[in-house]
Amino acid sequence: MAIERTLSIIKPDAVGGNHIGAIYSRFEEAGLKIVGAKMLHLDDEKAGGFYAEHKERPFYNDLVSFMTSGPVVVSVLEGENAIAKHREIMGATNPAEAAEGTIRKDFASSIDENAVHGSDSAESAKREIAYFFADNEVLDRTR
Ligand code: TYD
Ligand code: MG
Repeated sequence: MAIERTLSIIKPDAVGGNHIGAIYSRFEEAGLKIVGAKMLHLDDEKAGGFYAEHKERPFYNDLVSFMTSGPVVVSVLEGENAIAKHREIMGATNPAEAAEGTIRKDFASSIDENAVHGSDSAESAKREIAYFFADNEVLDRTR
């Protein structure tokens, strides 16, 4: 299976709840390596641009307000099948529908404050990593 990279965001609700370490542990326990990491407080332009694909959706303005409401931790995760594996350990978008043992089941309170983001395809992973990280901010941890 191919080694992939994916973008993770620990959202303001989970940072505010002091769950950064617990969520990082889930990534590492699943065999995903953190190869890039930064804490940021997004502004409207950066958060709005990130979620541009949802611009016409009714929840877009609330989503941007939420994503700018406090610090986030943005990371690049690397591993076998990383994109799907990360989505699997995150759980469903709506925590009420998330499987037992998933990050959203354990740390999210609602569909609009749902603790984490993860890229949903190889194309979005590439775009989303480049949206937050310069090439030299994603590190080679193979050695
Ligand atoms: P989406 O890409 O559908 O979900 P995911 O984060 O699982 O890829 O939606 C992006 C974010 O938009 C989602 O994490 C939370 C927010 N959102 C809402 O607030 N209400 C909604 O009904 C949906 C579908 C999403
Ligand atoms: Mg999505």
